[in-house]
Amino acid sequence: MEIIHLSAECYPIAKVGGLGDVVGALPKYQNKLGHVAKVVMPAYQTKFMQENEFEVVYDGWGKLGFHNFPVRIFREKTNKLGFDLYLVHISGLLDRPNVYGYDDDTERFLAYQIAVLDWITQWEHRPDVVHCHDHHTGLVPFMMAYCHQFKRLSTVPTILTIHNAQYQGQFGWDKLHYVPPFDLWKSGQLDWRGSINPLASAIKCAWRVTTVSPSYLEEISFRANGLEDLLAQEREKSVGILNGIDNEVWDPQHDPMLEKKYAIRTVENGKKANKEALCRVFNLDPLKPLFTFIGRLVGEKGADLLPDIFYNALLQANGGINVLVLGSGDPQVEGRLMQLKEAFPGNYNAYIGYNEQLSHQIYAGADFLLMPSRVEPCGLNQMYALRYGTVPIVRRIGGLKDTVIDIGDGGFGICHDQTSVWDVGHAIGRAYELYYDEKHLKEIRKYMMQLDHSWDRAAQQYIDLYQI
Ligand code: ADP
Ligand code: GLC
Repeated sequence: MEIIHLSAECYPIAKVGGLGDVVGALPKYQNKLGHVAKVVMPAYQTKFMQENEFEVVYDGWGKLGFHNFPVRIFREKTNKLGFDLYLVHISGLLDRPNVYGYDDDTERFLAYQIAVLDWITQWEHRPDVVHCHDHHTGLVPFMMAYCHQFKRLSTVPTILTIHNAQYQGQFGWDKLHYVPPFDLWKSGQLDWRGSINPLASAIKCAWRVTTVSPSYLEEISFRANGLEDLLAQEREKSVGILNGIDNEVWDPQHDPMLEKKYAIRTVENGKKANKEALCRVFNLDPLKPLFTFIGRLVGEKGADLLPDIFYNALLQANGGINVLVLGSGDPQVEGRLMQLKEAFPGNYNAYIGYNEQLSHQIYAGADFLLMPSRVEPCGLNQMYALRYGTVPIVRRIGGLKDTVIDIGDGGFGICHDQTSVWDVGHAIGRAYELYYDEKHLKEIRKYMMQLDHSWDRAAQQYIDLYQI
């Protein structure tokens, strides 16, 4: 099958969170199964763009309302990523350093979607499936089904994967003229509660809808930032497919970013060396348990509670634990996390910003990784932690519920029910006890590392789904 993945992010080209990891891995594993999976994404001004060689495969013009813009599509020449990569260049709109966060994001992602469809419409053949990821590509199923200029693609199946229903990309009906001409009586397919809502439109128009874990699919029928009723209505064409992880990128045995590489057999020494290196850099004590958080500092991740969670835990442990945070997001949370450094020097540290290499070093060097998420459609961090022998401490929600079993139930992680300072504090207390139960901890580390969360299974599940 020829599969076209459309996404705003794809590792290693541009990554903000887990979406990038998924789109950088799934196509590779689909290709390994004998299919031809391609990624078509915006050409941002990233290091990848500057450091690699490309050929131009399309040169044309796009139209966004009354505005015409030149489009160039580049193909990465070497195919070294394990899939064909196409980058859509639209001067002035997409060629910026960041993926999101601009006032004209609506225009940027619409222009990208229109350009992609203009290009694919001109192919001599048709792809077997177009797989859209999140709201940035959410108008594609509608446009393929109803826009006159893309009529040729109306019989090509479309799949929507919802990575996060919190973000929907809504905009006002005053921007309807951005959408290329279609039969106006179809406009209800764009609407959700008075706005043009790309995610809702994709849920309505895509042939199939997937969520990134089975539990998240259950949860969004009653909690999806206003889309509950729609998701319940479209339940029959929806399925939850648990994400995998790229075992080649996330492999402590071959990870070039680590101080010391290690396998299951050598996990104790390997983690010790990585922890010592991390503690040297961040002025922490390698003999004490190391608790960490990696992620976007937003409410969904429970980040607003982290300062209080850590303050209480550090106070109660009275110098007996270490905490290290890596993240960026809400400036107020960032500020409070920085302030804690003064209160607990030698026991607490934080790196505010995005740092891919440091994230690998933390997965390897930490003892525990916290994920007190309020919403977690899948979560990849806990799976990386498992692969690196780090015990996850997670709230029982979404994908966390589907991947982590509590030690009390014969499992390998520590689970709690609420995103609250008390619940997480209690979980940290249980982790502290586990740390000093050395025999149990050693067993758990070995057990976690042999769990298989690779993409092989999920890649096949998507292929089965495409055979509509
Ligand atoms: P989400 O996509 O909701 O942010 P996931 O758990 O699916 O959450 O994926 C997060 C990804 O982003 C992981 O690869 C994680 O290591 C990475 N990540 C998050 N914040 C940072 C950061 N500040 N520096 C480096 N990597 C980060
Ligand atoms: C989203 C979700 C996260 C998921 C990721 C990849 O960003 O918040 O839970 O793991 O997408 O699917």
